[in-house]
Amino acid sequence: MKKSESSVKHATNRRAFLTNGMVAAGAATMGAALLPGASTAFGREEDDHAPVTKGDIAILTFLSALEQVEADLWIQYAELGGATNQGLSTIDLELNGKKIVTGLAPNYITALEVLDGDMPQYIADNTDDEISHHRFLNHYLASKGARPIDLSEFATLPPSRVSGVPPTGRLTNLKQLTVDTTWWTRYRSETANPDFGGIFENAVPDLAKGKHPAIPVDDGDLILNADGSIPNHLQAIANTAGFHFAFIEQGGSSLYPALAQKVTNLEVLRVLLSIGGSEIMHFQTWHDKAGNATNITDGDLSFPNLNSGVDPNPNGTSANPADDFQTNLIMPEPTLFLNAKLGPVSIIRPTSTAQGGAVASVVSFVDDGLFLDPATNKNTGIVDVLMRLADEADEARRRF
Ligand SMILES: [Fe+2]
Ligand SMILES: [Fe+2]
Repeated sequence: MKKSESSVKHATNRRAFLTNGMVAAGAATMGAALLPGASTAFGREEDDHAPVTKGDIAILTFLSALEQVEADLWIQYAELGGATNQGLSTIDLELNGKKIVTGLAPNYITALEVLDGDMPQYIADNTDDEISHHRFLNHYLASKGARPIDLSEFATLPPSRVSGVPPTGRLTNLKQLTVDTTWWTRYRSETANPDFGGIFENAVPDLAKGKHPAIPVDDGDLILNADGSIPNHLQAIANTAGFHFAFIEQGGSSLYPALAQKVTNLEVLRVLLSIGGSEIMHFQTWHDKAGNATNITDGDLSFPNLNSGVDPNPNGTSANPADDFQTNLIMPEPTLFLNAKLGPVSIIRPTSTAQGGAVASVVSFVDDGLFLDPATNKNTGIVDVLMRLADEADEARRRF
């Protein structure tokens, strides 16, 4: 005899509650919204009676931490290259009630505008979005009786010395980046997927080695040529930023779907899908703009012509360089997913824990050089904390 749906649900919820032990804090302090079957504060419609599990909280906590890192780096981009006004209104970026100054480096903005005239606006908006992601996730954690996360104690890295930039410590270093640009070919491949063993070539091989600034380090970087044109070094900084924007946001595009597969509560799933979609919108925008980077050389850094039909890698392995590098092929090419028998499909990739999960995301940020302290040539202590939070997030399992 078939059990009634509600009794099955009740048993399942009780089992999940006992298995997961909910959040570490006592249930009494968490409020009724956390209890299985209780209506959430945000609408009965979204309540599937699955509890917010300890794993859900671990995922939300990690995401909030990583969003704080994203916000920190985007704030640095906005201070120097963000728009100062939005059409007829002013840009009103704020962090914790404090106004963020934007557009302090007009010549850097000019170099960014080579990639697209709207770059300063998009930079300001991406910054606003990341601040909102971190703030919302912290508020959401608090609403579930869990602890919001704040990594400000690791904000010890020196910012740009360009005039006007607040001389406060930062979580991230944008002056010595090693930018992985394999996402470029990953999204153009029609046969390979990182989740199924695919490996990919860089679009800008020089960015993937060495250490490159993505922001002007000081006022000296902003001096124009005698004829008023942009020096290659400044254009290279702006081009590096252009590729770095897409690198950061493709990470978020994979991270959210990777972690969404581990959440239990439907509303938490909704949070991940909704914020994750905004990361994908960012990535798509930056992917398009990066292709407009001018083909210049600055010291050991060259930005190749990706429309020449030639593989830009010294020992390139591309069988079809025209398709693997062409700049306007920014829609995700249908590729292998799950099983080759199902046929190629246009998707976000990776979405596995191993390739796109929390630990993988932290490792990619570390490899990017984001936490490198120039004073010690070592990473700051934030890496240990992020790795611990990432481990807990990746260990979460969907429970019913
Ligand atoms: Fe974000
Ligand atoms: Fe993002």
